[in-house]
Amino acid sequence: MAWLRGIIRNGLSGIEKYKYGKPVSELQRELGLDKVVRLCSNENPWPLPESVMRAIGVSLEKVNCYPDPQSYRLRRLLAKKWGVSTGEVIIGAGTEGILHSLFHATVDPGDEIVCPVPAYPLYRVAAIAAAAKFVEVPVEEGATLDIGRIMNFCTDKTKAVIISNPGNPTGKIIERDRMLLLAHELDSRQILLVVDEAYAEYVEDPNYLAGIELFRDIGRIVITRTFSKIYGLAALRVGYSIAPKTIVEAYDKVHPVFEVSRVGQYAAHAALLEETFIKDVRLKTVAEMTRVQRRLADMGVSAENTQTNFLLLKHKKSEDIFERLLQEGVIVRKGSDLGLEGYLRVTIGLPEENDVFLSSLKKVLTQVV
Ligand SMILES: Cc1ncc(COP(=O)(O)O)c(C=O)c1O
Repeated sequence: MAWLRGIIRNGLSGIEKYKYGKPVSELQRELGLDKVVRLCSNENPWPLPESVMRAIGVSLEKVNCYPDPQSYRLRRLLAKKWGVSTGEVIIGAGTEGILHSLFHATVDPGDEIVCPVPAYPLYRVAAIAAAAKFVEVPVEEGATLDIGRIMNFCTDKTKAVIISNPGNPTGKIIERDRMLLLAHELDSRQILLVVDEAYAEYVEDPNYLAGIELFRDIGRIVITRTFSKIYGLAALRVGYSIAPKTIVEAYDKVHPVFEVSRVGQYAAHAALLEETFIKDVRLKTVAEMTRVQRRLADMGVSAENTQTNFLLLKHKKSEDIFERLLQEGVIVRKGSDLGLEGYLRVTIGLPEENDVFLSSLKKVLTQVV
């Protein structure tokens, strides 16, 4: 059967399988635990509004039929929200699904996708899966993004630069001036800027520049957003993108036709109308983040503030702490899985979940030092 190996595309050796956070059921099986707290995937833990649950119920009445491949109702609502035309909106199977199809639609073999790292690991997967060369621009810990340096990594083979704003795993925003500079520099070199704004709705910093402003100003950029984070619909796999018409048309040729389920479309539509819920989740997350940070400081653990729904804990024994927290039934994310050695990334959960994390960490810290 050795020939089967020859069937696999050579380029795929450049991709490692995505290291996802451990599912609750897996840890329960492994350790025979009843209660597990999962703070590793930056989901929104707060209960969904009634209207969203109702919409999900209604959508289930027709699961025998294919969903609307255009997600038209949701697309129209998003176009209205952002003041763009429906032809400038993509609805896809989460940011992940959108990036795969976007790169399939834009990359010719050997084209380069440039990305400052550490970055969300799926950028690399999506780029290489589309036969691009993934070019990493290393950014030193704590350093601000050097736009000149990114531009130096771009060549005449560069198709796109992809960044997340706010960043994962850093949790930081790229300030307004820097974003403007990056967008204009790339546009002048005819390189597409792709901005992943998965955490945008959590941002409080007034120095944040939402990609939509750049889209209105320059037009030739792609913004992705998701219903997986603050909207609380990670399981339903819905994301969207604001993009130039030419790109949307190309995307429409390659993406899986029925990629967004009817349940996802209905739930996302209802969630988008729940502005009070979104604001409420943001405020509760910020309040919890502040509380957790204070408790961490009391334990002598430094945790950087972020503009997202996760905290970054710095500790020289982070790997050991990660393993010991698992034994306590608490799943967080190892920085080393995300290119951030010496850190743990911890999602802000419900107050009671955060308390379990804090008390487990307190216990674990006595074991590692
Ligand atoms: C920066 C970033 N982009 C995208 C995603 C995933 O989005 P989706 O669920 O829409 O595929 C995540 C999830 O952790 C993320 O951190």
